[in-house]
Amino acid sequence: MQTAITEMFGIQHPIIQGGMHYVGFAELAAAVSNAGGLGTITGLTQKTPADLANEIARCRDMTDKPFAVNLTFLPTVNAPDYPGYVRAIIEGGVKAVETAGNNPAQVLPFFQDAGIKVIHKCTSVRHALKAQSIGCDAVSVDGFECGGHPGEDDVPNFILLPRAADELEIPFVSSGGMADGRSLMASIAMGASGMNMGTRFIATKEAPVHENVKQAIVAASELDTRLVMRPLRNTERVMTNDAVEDLLRIEKEKGANLKFEDIIEQVAGVYPRIMLEGDMDAGAWSCGMVAGLIHDVPTCKQLIDRIMVEADAIIDRMNAIR
Ligand SMILES: Cc1cc2nc3c(=O)[nH]c(=O)nc-3n(C[C@H](O)[C@H](O)[C@H](O)COP(=O)(O)O)c2cc1C
Repeated sequence: MQTAITEMFGIQHPIIQGGMHYVGFAELAAAVSNAGGLGTITGLTQKTPADLANEIARCRDMTDKPFAVNLTFLPTVNAPDYPGYVRAIIEGGVKAVETAGNNPAQVLPFFQDAGIKVIHKCTSVRHALKAQSIGCDAVSVDGFECGGHPGEDDVPNFILLPRAADELEIPFVSSGGMADGRSLMASIAMGASGMNMGTRFIATKEAPVHENVKQAIVAASELDTRLVMRPLRNTERVMTNDAVEDLLRIEKEKGANLKFEDIIEQVAGVYPRIMLEGDMDAGAWSCGMVAGLIHDVPTCKQLIDRIMVEADAIIDRMNAIR
């Protein structure tokens, strides 16, 4: 299937794996790219720019296909060494970057001078238009369903995607709630040129996370996520567990006086314990409502091939309607 997105990134199928903290290591990025999608290494999971350079090199050893690096701009006091990460990406010869979080205007010229295509992930039409206006090549439109940070507008993809299609001139992919061939064809019907998946790619053989994480996703239904940190205007959709229920109780007790320090135990530094050690109650970890559509742990190639077969069957079914 050829779309503006497959052309832009030089990939076979219009399927992207979004950056995921402590999930987007070289093993997963390479597996997605080898399967014909665009795999993504999560930049900030690597503690230093030198570690990121090493991860990019490891990925290159595992695939000769294009892959991306995610660079997330966090609202933190102690900013990571962003110039160092940008240099590691450029010097590593990476050809695609997924930016997320704050406006990437400051880094855009460096990437574009190096011939790197930039896809910015955003959760509203106004942010997508901003990304277009500063010169991003594409956007990833993340609906309310998504795992991770859905923003504060709560607009689901059945509204957000056609709204984006009505306003944008640059290509975009759908993101949030995407799992299968139905997701891909629905996204295309609503004006997208492909889809981005997070949670679905965690439950794959190659995702280098603890088996408990994959099984938690397979076992979960669409009712098992919660929104946390809403009072801090840093809303995150996470899988429910004991720590998350504690967190929500604290949020309720503190009300408008909630501070980040009140919930630090449930959110800060918990990813390694969850993703690597499989300690599923260690804290809050991002997960999409799409968990309700995930029932198996295939390889990335099995998953992507299946999506494309399903997409073809949908095209046939639609043609038969006429
Ligand atoms: C465990 C996990 C960690 C994530 N970490 C990041 C991150 O560090 N940076 C980022 O831009 N997006 C992150 N995301 C969001 C994904 O890239 C993607 O936008 C989102 O998962 C799409 O929704 P879905 O899970 O319904 O497919 C994360 C998502 C998950 C599930």
